[in-house]
Amino acid sequence: MGYQTNLFDNKTVLITGAGKGIGRACALMAANCGAKVIAVARTKTDLESLSSEHGNIEGWALDINSDEFLNRLKGLPVLHGLINNAGTNRVAPMSEQTNESIDAVIDLNIRSIYKITQAALTPLKAAKGASIVNMSSQMGFVGSPGRTLYCMSKHAVEGLTKSLAVELAQEKLRVNSVAPTFVETPMTKPMLEKPEFKDFVYSMIPMKELANVEDVANACIFLLSDLSRMVTGTSLKVDGGWTAQ
Ligand SMILES: NC(=O)c1ccc[n+]([C@@H]2O[C@H](COP(=O)([O-])OP(=O)(O)OC[C@H]3O[C@@H](n4cnc5c(N)ncnc54)[C@H](OP(=O)(O)O)[C@@H]3O)[C@@H](O)[C@H]2O)c1
Repeated sequence: MGYQTNLFDNKTVLITGAGKGIGRACALMAANCGAKVIAVARTKTDLESLSSEHGNIEGWALDINSDEFLNRLKGLPVLHGLINNAGTNRVAPMSEQTNESIDAVIDLNIRSIYKITQAALTPLKAAKGASIVNMSSQMGFVGSPGRTLYCMSKHAVEGLTKSLAVELAQEKLRVNSVAPTFVETPMTKPMLEKPEFKDFVYSMIPMKELANVEDVANACIFLLSDLSRMVTGTSLKVDGGWTAQ
């Protein structure tokens, strides 16, 4: 079961936060569908092990907030797909959030998507039919205790996605988001190890299971490819029904 291996033949796709978790699964799936993949993360060893899993994956060991990354991205001759996946969470009630956490979440979850997409516009337009996928969350649609900062950032991702889709539609550039429920990754593992939190999560998901990284990658590949040719400005929720209640 899966996509055709020639879905992205002769296409280049860049994925941020591709060393671990959801981004890594997206990189492997895009490469298995024939794409040349540029995988970006700061930890070189993660990228080396990823490239050793598939010959079509090139690692860029860079901070996505750095000028070095943005300039290298701007210099690409053409880019057919961009997955703005890197993101972070700092869970705490508003009364306890630090300035450092507020800045970190806003910088990585919102500002970096804006700046990266801005830097990628010329190579994306050169593809004449490119697609951008922004990694949102079910928390881009609802609220949750201790997650006001994260929810705010993911609601912003939804707004950015819709507005940019309208702005770029005539350039044949599509923009969508994917909104997963909880997936066990290095980011969420410590949260899901707390039994009371795990019980809360399962109580909120009508399908009574977590998503896995491939469930999310499948949604990203669909939105990145021509299979979703007329889909723009929307969000594909991979949330087992959390937000349908
Ligand atoms: N896991 C979930 O349950 C869940 C649910 C809904 C939405 N999401 C969203 O899905 C996305 C990925 O989440 P995940 O759980 O897969 O995260 P993760 O396991 O923490 O992996 C994040 C990846 O991003 C990279 N990264 C972080 N900061 C970076 C930076 N400044 N520059 C370059 N790379 C950076 C990390 O590598 P380095 O540290 O080596 O740079 C890592 O490879 C996020 O946007 C998250 O909000 C996750």
